[in-house]
Amino acid sequence: MERYIIDGSRVLSGEVRISGAKNAALPIAAAALLTEGAVIYNCPDLSDIRVCIDILTSLGCKCDYRSNVLSIEPYGISCCKITKELCARMRSSVTFLGALMGKCQRAELYCPGGCALGERPIDIHLEALADMGAEITCEENGIICKGALRGADITLRYPSVGATENIILAAVKAKGTTILRNCAREPEICALADFLNMAGARISGAGSPVITVEGVERLHRCEYTVPGDRIEAGTYMCAAAITGGELFIRGVDGAVMGAVTEAMQATGCVIKESRSLIYIDAPKRPAAIDRIVTEPYPGFPTDMQAQFTSVLSKAEGMSVIEERVFEQRNKHIPELNKMGADISCTGGRYFEINGVCRLKGSVLRAYDLRGGAALAVAALGAEGRSVIYDNGFIRRGYERFAEKLSDIGAEISCEEINEA
Ligand code: EPZ
Repeated sequence: MERYIIDGSRVLSGEVRISGAKNAALPIAAAALLTEGAVIYNCPDLSDIRVCIDILTSLGCKCDYRSNVLSIEPYGISCCKITKELCARMRSSVTFLGALMGKCQRAELYCPGGCALGERPIDIHLEALADMGAEITCEENGIICKGALRGADITLRYPSVGATENIILAAVKAKGTTILRNCAREPEICALADFLNMAGARISGAGSPVITVEGVERLHRCEYTVPGDRIEAGTYMCAAAITGGELFIRGVDGAVMGAVTEAMQATGCVIKESRSLIYIDAPKRPAAIDRIVTEPYPGFPTDMQAQFTSVLSKAEGMSVIEERVFEQRNKHIPELNKMGADISCTGGRYFEINGVCRLKGSVLRAYDLRGGAALAVAALGAEGRSVIYDNGFIRRGYERFAEKLSDIGAEISCEEINEA
């Protein structure tokens, strides 16, 4: 258990360097199974990455990880089963389903099950794999998937990020061509396709609603640099916005920020972007926004909803946020209200945020990764001291979180404590 102690109301300013994108690095590390070896640069040092390395090692890969460089030698694949313990430690272990099917035509793993965000089913993944000829048996949340896959024309009922990644991984070495329609368009999908194409895959259309994958015999060695994390960047934009600060956010392509930039500008922030930098200059107090709806990319990202709710809790006026991706991404709301926010939540997904002038430092608890980051953002903009109890959520997605915030003027410390 970590405890973050934040003394708020410091105006943040200066330069922060964004780490590699967690949600790109994870599927790319799984994809390395399909190659003859890979070196992945700018791989963020996060607990989820460490679990991914444990999974690769348990499958027989040789991994070396130092100074944000992850080398993976997949020669010794000795099994295609991922233990329940490892699956429980990281939900996105489900991406190994596609990678193992692409590698060994067999995969055994466990459904991660629900979490703070909702039920998190994987039916879309399984239906698409079945369309490719996979035989799937499920028992007590264990999945056995097997069979030589063939290309198929697949339409996803919902543009699931994980399902899109799994099908790309299953299709790159399948016999024939796979067309994936209504697929996810997130930048992390493009990064995965770029990595695989560098290894000799034949993937086109990543970033559009239709991806085509022509199966190939082999994927050779390759080296790849993970792009900057757009959600980490957006989180620091929120930290600037709630403290009336000014930041240079380096290491991320402003072009992928899309709806987040538009929303920040609507609160009154001045934003300038380039291929590797975002400049943000925030007003003393953010303006309210009539309505924000979270949607698949290029819509406003659900992973920014909690952090943005914190910003709007101090805005001048009434804002509405509708969370359309996850059914219960709302555990941060009662914690924000403890700080004096005035947020009502209807049906778990419709938030009416009546902006207040002041938030007061409080004792808070994080229930999920982005919710924890949202509480830190609120604490930065609050008067007095906040203490955030966090059971390892923040460090799943934010590299050197306390250090990076301290470097731009926050009064923050983080200590390990025994479970109370
Ligand atoms: C990825 O999760 C990200 N995780 C999530 O980021 C992100 O919030 C999400 O995409 C949406 O952008 C990683 O990339 C590791 P989905 P994923 O499949 O793939 C439903 C973070 O904070 N659904 O697009 O699990 C599902 O229940 C994390 O970094 C089905 O119904 O997201 C959800 O309501 C949190 N059946 C919606 O679709 C399925 O088979 C979106 O899920 C699959 C999904």
